[in-house]
Amino acid sequence: MLNITIIAFAHHKGGTGKTTSCLNVAGFLQKSGKSVLVVDCDPQASATVGLGIDPDTLELSMYDLFMSTFEGFPDTVISDIIIPTTSGIDLAPATLDLVGVEPYLYSIEDRAGLLRDALAGVRDTYDFILIDTPPSMGQFVINGLIAADHTIVTLDPGTFALKGMEALSTVFGDIRDILGENVTSEFAILTRWKGQDDRATGTGGFALFLKRIFSPGPSAEEVKEIEMLKAFEVEVRKTFKQVFVVPYSPAIYETQQKGLPISHYAPKSSAGSEYRVIADALLELDKKYGKDV
Ligand SMILES: Nc1ncnc2c1ncn2[C@@H]1O[C@H](COP(=O)(O)OP(=O)(O)OP(=O)(O)O)[C@@H](O)[C@H]1O
Ligand SMILES: [Mg+2]
Repeated sequence: MLNITIIAFAHHKGGTGKTTSCLNVAGFLQKSGKSVLVVDCDPQASATVGLGIDPDTLELSMYDLFMSTFEGFPDTVISDIIIPTTSGIDLAPATLDLVGVEPYLYSIEDRAGLLRDALAGVRDTYDFILIDTPPSMGQFVINGLIAADHTIVTLDPGTFALKGMEALSTVFGDIRDILGENVTSEFAILTRWKGQDDRATGTGGFALFLKRIFSPGPSAEEVKEIEMLKAFEVEVRKTFKQVFVVPYSPAIYETQQKGLPISHYAPKSSAGSEYRVIADALLELDKKYGKDV
């Protein structure tokens, strides 16, 4: 029996923590001894940069993989474009060129399953494949959702309501109706979350001590925001089977500057600890639902 779990990180709103969550979960899975591939399905190439790769230096990328479907473009399979990164995570990288693929995709009927079919070529190479998707409702997101066994929805403090989820549920419904594929999302990650106690200070310790001494209490506005976030968290918990809360942490930015996941740079930071919990939950899921191939 060969187990592989494919997970897509999605939300059509920008900046909800898709890439951060994808890379940091990938990092902890890799540290647990799993072979991990990150697929960057976003023309912004943030996952590529976040793993320390400069998109301008790439000879082959997701662009070539998608374009090989069309006549006149060279044959490219996923193993051709995969590169190793310093973290030990493998990467199917993106470049800005990827933007140019979408209009082509609309010209073919069988466009939604391209990534799923491409990933079939590396099913026996990896334990986990994590797909980072762009903030849109376009073909890259649909390809990511269809290729994945599980979808993780990321929500940030600016989301405030599950209205955004309605749009995502509509996409799930369309995929079911048109393609007969059942896409659901059992997991949500609340990112940069401030609705908790004082975990927002990140590393805690002396910094937290100083903050408590010098800063005045939260303003009325902050108190209101925290209350709204708590109410939203309750709503999210009713919608998803499992909800993870990652606090705001300066360590996130620092690790991104290093081109490494938090697992490889600041695993014990507040955000690092939570991403470890998420990775552990996925390892459990993998054990439970590992599929015969
Ligand atoms: N827990 C956190 N603490 C502090 N900053 C964070 C945290 N999570 C994410 N960020 C920051 O929030 C910003 C948005 O995160 P990220 O790029 O992961 O979102 P995204 O959903 O992938 O964005 P896009 O929709 O543009 O692809 C980034 O600058 C990232 O550094
Ligand atoms: Mg992103």
